[in-house]
Amino acid sequence: DKAGYKHFMAKEIAEQPTVLQGALAHYINADATGITLPEPGLDFTQVERMTMVACGTAFYACLVAKYWFEQIAGIPVEVDVASEFRYREPPVTPGTVALFVSQSGETADTLAALRYMEGKADKIVSVVNVPESSIARESDLPLPILAGTEIGVASTKAFTCQLTTMAILALQAAHVRGRIDDQELADKLSNLRALPGVLNLALGIEGKTQEVSRKLAETRDILFLGRGAMYPLALEGALKLKEISYIHAEAYASGELKHGPIALVDKHVPVIVMAPRDALFDKTVSNMQEVMARGGKVLLVTDREGAKTAGDGVWDTILMPEIDPFLAPILYAVPAQLLAYHTAVAKGTDVDQPRNLAKSVTVE
Ligand code: M6R
Repeated sequence: DKAGYKHFMAKEIAEQPTVLQGALAHYINADATGITLPEPGLDFTQVERMTMVACGTAFYACLVAKYWFEQIAGIPVEVDVASEFRYREPPVTPGTVALFVSQSGETADTLAALRYMEGKADKIVSVVNVPESSIARESDLPLPILAGTEIGVASTKAFTCQLTTMAILALQAAHVRGRIDDQELADKLSNLRALPGVLNLALGIEGKTQEVSRKLAETRDILFLGRGAMYPLALEGALKLKEISYIHAEAYASGELKHGPIALVDKHVPVIVMAPRDALFDKTVSNMQEVMARGGKVLLVTDREGAKTAGDGVWDTILMPEIDPFLAPILYAVPAQLLAYHTAVAKGTDVDQPRNLAKSVTVE
């Protein structure tokens, strides 16, 4: 049931504030001062490193989580795509926690990677949407993301719920490892609890994204740029767009631009820059200026402060609500999704059932 929406994808994008609220209530204590993980839990004081493995959008969620676990919890994290991971035969040392992320919990490569880690990792954690799935059943600590059934082939609400679950896990790790105190934990948890409201506000960009998407629909190639934890969001934006609009899109870490891809830039190639006003913003602005100096059309996705600092010369701007930089990757999923969605609608493609793709990839 599409509940009045034109596509399941549109419904699932719009559902995000509600499902996220449920996920937050599941993990965060009612007084918002602590986190409860399902038994047997995980003793983060004993964790030396984490290995995260997934495919597609779930892989990008892991790339964001790497920033979180390394920056706030001080745990080194390795991330790999499931189809590559086990063929490398990576050595596994004591103190390793393996974490697998999968909406369906049935992705063949991810499941095979999990089986590779059985008996090697200290603990196998999974972040899954389908609680009775193979990946959930075969892990020591399955963490449900509570996104509800996702029907659109392009993953949307599962991504934001995967991110939210891993943000909570990273905060738990940071707290028990003494990297953040009770007060900092409580502050971050209250920011998280405010996230559904901010997400709701962010959905207000729909009209603007629709207008920009009509122009994007006429292009052949699009570049996405992001820095820090926004780099995986750039990757997610490019993947969403490719999947459902069939427009060629690529994402780069902003700083990599001048090492090659800038050669692609001309007036026909829109460059979408995902950049909230954070500590890395000024560096991104100089990358943007390099694009504009070569006639590139920059679509800047930022907040009010960012738009002010960036100044004139951008092709267009999508204005996002202000947010704690720690949580920005969750919020910026919304423009990534809406740009892809409206571009696909403008092109008239089959949004929920894009060609050549299946919702769950159960062959290797
Ligand atoms: O069910 P999974 O999360 O394991 O699926 C992984 C990928 O196949 C999936 O995220 C795919 O990339 C999506 N279609 C992206 O929108």
